[in-house]
Amino acid sequence: MKDESEIREVKVKPRDYQPNEAELEEEIYIPTTPEKLARAALQQVKIVEDKQARTLYPPPSNRLYFGDCLDILREEVASESVDLIYLDPPFNSKRLYNAFIGNAQWVAFDDTWRWSEAIDDFHNIVSKPGPLANTMEGLRMIHGEGPNLAYLSYMANRLVECHRVLKSTGSIYLHCDPTMSHSLKLILDGIFGQKNFINEIVWCYKSGGANPKRFFSKKHDLILWSSKSNKYIFNPQTEKSYNRELKPYRFKGVKEYRDKIGWYTLVGMKDYWNIDMVGRTSKERVGYPTQKPLALLDRIIKASCPPNGIVLDPFCGCGTTIEAAQILGRKWIGIDVCVNACKVIEKRISNHINNFYGEVEFIGLPKTANDAKTLANLDAFKFERWAASLVDGMEANKKQRGDGGIDGYGRLAIDKGKFIDLVSQVKGGHTNPGHIQAFNGARQQVGAELGIFTCFDEKVTQGMRDTAASTGRFMDVPKVQIYTVEDYFIGKTPQMPSHFV
Ligand SMILES: C[S@@+](CC[C@H](N)C(=O)[O-])C[C@H]1O[C@@H](n2cnc3c(N)ncnc32)[C@H](O)[C@@H]1O
Repeated sequence: MKDESEIREVKVKPRDYQPNEAELEEEIYIPTTPEKLARAALQQVKIVEDKQARTLYPPPSNRLYFGDCLDILREEVASESVDLIYLDPPFNSKRLYNAFIGNAQWVAFDDTWRWSEAIDDFHNIVSKPGPLANTMEGLRMIHGEGPNLAYLSYMANRLVECHRVLKSTGSIYLHCDPTMSHSLKLILDGIFGQKNFINEIVWCYKSGGANPKRFFSKKHDLILWSSKSNKYIFNPQTEKSYNRELKPYRFKGVKEYRDKIGWYTLVGMKDYWNIDMVGRTSKERVGYPTQKPLALLDRIIKASCPPNGIVLDPFCGCGTTIEAAQILGRKWIGIDVCVNACKVIEKRISNHINNFYGEVEFIGLPKTANDAKTLANLDAFKFERWAASLVDGMEANKKQRGDGGIDGYGRLAIDKGKFIDLVSQVKGGHTNPGHIQAFNGARQQVGAELGIFTCFDEKVTQGMRDTAASTGRFMDVPKVQIYTVEDYFIGKTPQMPSHFV
């Protein structure tokens, strides 16, 4: 039992709370979930509720968060604080996306869903009676308890938080495709109210390739626009409408214009948009899968975010929304759970501002091994998420518990159409050769060719290195490699098979 003097007394702040300068100096622990409260209790942190300290949160600068948007929204973003939300989450496409990262082809993110991972999400929603709970029960009847309901439960929880953080004059644009748009629209109505649904925008694009034999070529996405109330902000946009036969009409009171195509009038912008996607030869391309065009975000931001407003993208990927907001002089908050996405954004936004770290608060990604240690002590799960994806191309496991000893996955092309699987395991604390042995067993069980075991330098023993070496080699590299946080910060990377494409 610890001595009473060792017990830290820490105040629990509500999520909207903004500390003053003096408080920033002291350690503030913010347990926002039952797990964190339990952990705080374990660490013998005395928790004092501070109900008075509610203020609205005007973010002092642009913010980029690494983490799951559900946690970040709950813990970091105040109610009624943002003007516009655009989100382009996974679509439940049941696809794995490929990307070139460095000079290797990886599967970049996994858009597949499991009911076993979403049961808590579902029950969290249906336990609060109201239109959304009814909608979710209805969706359970339609879809059954499987991947679709898992995906929808995951989305519903995040959309509830989006509703909370939006100002009463704000709008949300939910980017999806016809796989799930019909069910997502019901969820939006359950949260925002059917009367606040404004437009279903069809983004039409052309891309080459597929010539399907059993259906029309699928060349559009959908963007569902809802507002928080009928006081929503809208700056009407116009577009050219070419006259029939491209000749002037000369109607009384109608202004007509001419360009090199012919005569046209300016009309209110329609709800179907022809905007080129980011193709292989596009100048905008940053090599991140599912990158959306700047022109799409430019249009949405101009229409629905006031000049000094704040734009939030909780699934910001390689940062298209952020770059568009930056160019248009809006403030922004971006969130992504993928380390690689955050790295791409850092590079992308640095093209627009001289001092990235001076002007942007980059939260959640440790910048030194010491930061990583602090993170490991404060929030073991966030640390795992980060460390499991240190190797470019690898991604942290969606599951928080019951992951069978696997914290991250990656799939690397080693030949044309031939991929190998990599898994990672992270230990923030004590390690021994038994951990390497167990990890190798987990690797074999899931059939992965390579395993990356990540921990801190000081925890690695010769026994662990010997155990890793005894697991043998795949092609020309060890099957299990110990990769330390310190290796990462000096730019060292694990060995990959030399024959990758
Ligand atoms: C379709 S992509 C977004 C692409 C983005 N609109 C762009 O133009 O780059 C979806 C992104 O959501 C991220 N993501 C998935 N689940 C997430 C979560 N729970 N919290 C935050 N980001 C998440 C993925 O890492 C991926 O980068």
